[in-house]
Amino acid sequence: ESIHAKMVAKGKLYFGTATDQNRFNTGSNAAIIKANFGQVSPENSMKWDQTETSRDKYNYAGADAFMKFATDNKQLVRGHTFVWHSQLPGWVSQINNKATLTTVVQNHITTMMTRWKGQIYGWDVMNEIFDESGGFRSSVFYNVLGQDFVRIAFEAARKADPAAKLYINDYNLDTASYAKTQGMVRNVKNWISQGIPIDGIGSQGHLTAGQAANAPAAMAALCAAAPECALTEVDIQNANGQDWGNIVKACLNQANCVGITVWGVRDTDSWRPSGNPLLFDSSYKPKSAYNQVLAALA
Ligand code: G3I
Repeated sequence: ESIHAKMVAKGKLYFGTATDQNRFNTGSNAAIIKANFGQVSPENSMKWDQTETSRDKYNYAGADAFMKFATDNKQLVRGHTFVWHSQLPGWVSQINNKATLTTVVQNHITTMMTRWKGQIYGWDVMNEIFDESGGFRSSVFYNVLGQDFVRIAFEAARKADPAAKLYINDYNLDTASYAKTQGMVRNVKNWISQGIPIDGIGSQGHLTAGQAANAPAAMAALCAAAPECALTEVDIQNANGQDWGNIVKACLNQANCVGITVWGVRDTDSWRPSGNPLLFDSSYKPKSAYNQVLAALA
């Protein structure tokens, strides 16, 4: 039985991974993904710099290939990502006019969500908008539009595909008492109370050894602030014997945590160059990390 099937047996929607055609067309990635994972996130292919390379000119090659893989394998998709300061094309970063930036954000979200309307479980509408103190990160979105960029983006997203779950996603939300975690909780509660259509909080979960011990309490705080929540990009550098079990429990313990996504298949292909952070080794063999996940789902 796959880790995805075991996760579903626990009442969750999925256990997934990140991929794109450079991965699923090479090595044993496709076979491993089909055998183990029930959800996929596009590691890069749906980001703004890969899709709307210049204003109103779209390139869907990578995203379409990703969607075909997901559809062929009947996997849930988490779309990733719209409002993000990184992997943002220069033509967007240079906009300094409120009306123009509002239209550009609305059009990007509407165009992307309409293309795959009804086919995406949820979208990371916001990614990494907070700084480490829980305030707003400096970005073209915040600097030009103020906090209003959050409402503008979520409202456009809800209108474009009302069935898709709309997420706000961030990293370093791994300790409940950390200022950034508290900033996420405080702001999301406030935005939801104002009627901004946010369905979920995503905690990326890029961890180092021992950090997962705090994840269950952190997820309890995050999951209490929104209708649903998920661990969206998990990897653990130099994981100890308990880390992977703790991260699984962090989701299992929360009734509204819908699933866990790990950020890639094998260590060699991780964006993190050291610390062997994933579930499969360079020969595509499942590691003890994989067995810890299985044990936590037993
Ligand atoms: O597409 C270009 C290609 O044209 C060029 O030849 C090549 C040469 O370097 O670079 C390619 O772009 C790379 C891109 O991945 C696509 O492969 C970038 O250099 C590289 O920096 C980029 O890295 C990605 C990173 O986000 C960028 O911020 C990682 O693969 C991806 O795993 C990582 O994912 C992020 C999540 O989206 C958000 N949370 C953090 C997470 C880890 O950084």
